[in-house]
Amino acid sequence: MSSDNVRVGIFVATMTGLAEMCGEEVEDALTSAGFHCERLLMDGLGTDAFDEFGLIVIVTSTYGHGEIPDNGQALFAAVEAGVDLSGKTYAIFALGDRTYADTFCAAGDRWDAVLTSCGATRIVDIERQDASSGTLAEDVAGEWAAGWVGQIARGG
Ligand SMILES: Cc1cc2nc3c(=O)[nH]c(=O)nc-3n(C[C@H](O)[C@H](O)[C@H](O)COP(=O)(O)O)c2cc1C
Repeated sequence: MSSDNVRVGIFVATMTGLAEMCGEEVEDALTSAGFHCERLLMDGLGTDAFDEFGLIVIVTSTYGHGEIPDNGQALFAAVEAGVDLSGKTYAIFALGDRTYADTFCAAGDRWDAVLTSCGATRIVDIERQDASSGTLAEDVAGEWAAGWVGQIARGG
């Protein structure tokens, strides 16, 4: 995968804004590595939003009992209903809180399952950011993206 020919779409689902800050840091890291990125809140998007991107980055928190944030529910449902994403790659930065032991970062896991079932290929382990860990989510997000993007930009 090369930064010359892969466009990156960063898709953000959030309730209170932390995932949006994380998405900005991911965008900075990927842009610094030479990728052309577009960052979008999931509100109002359909599956055609994925069309122009070779690499899809999902940045999502989890609410309720393992639910997708409100602004991501329609897009998630549309993908779940079926779309061909073969040939696309993806990465997931999931925000959650380990005090929700049974549903920790479940929205990220749900995206992982649905993107795989639609034919896309995950290029890096899901990152699960724990709000109770004392780390700054946006810093972790930037470091996470910087950690894998150099490798893929070199074709690794
Ligand atoms: C009402 C409520 C429900 C939550 N439910 C979950 C959950 O089921 N699993 C989880 O891992 N985190 C859960 N969280 C934690 C959030 O995902 C976490 O605080 C996240 O950092 C919020 O990011 P955001 O500001 O982008 O929405 C919940 C938080 C709230 C306030």
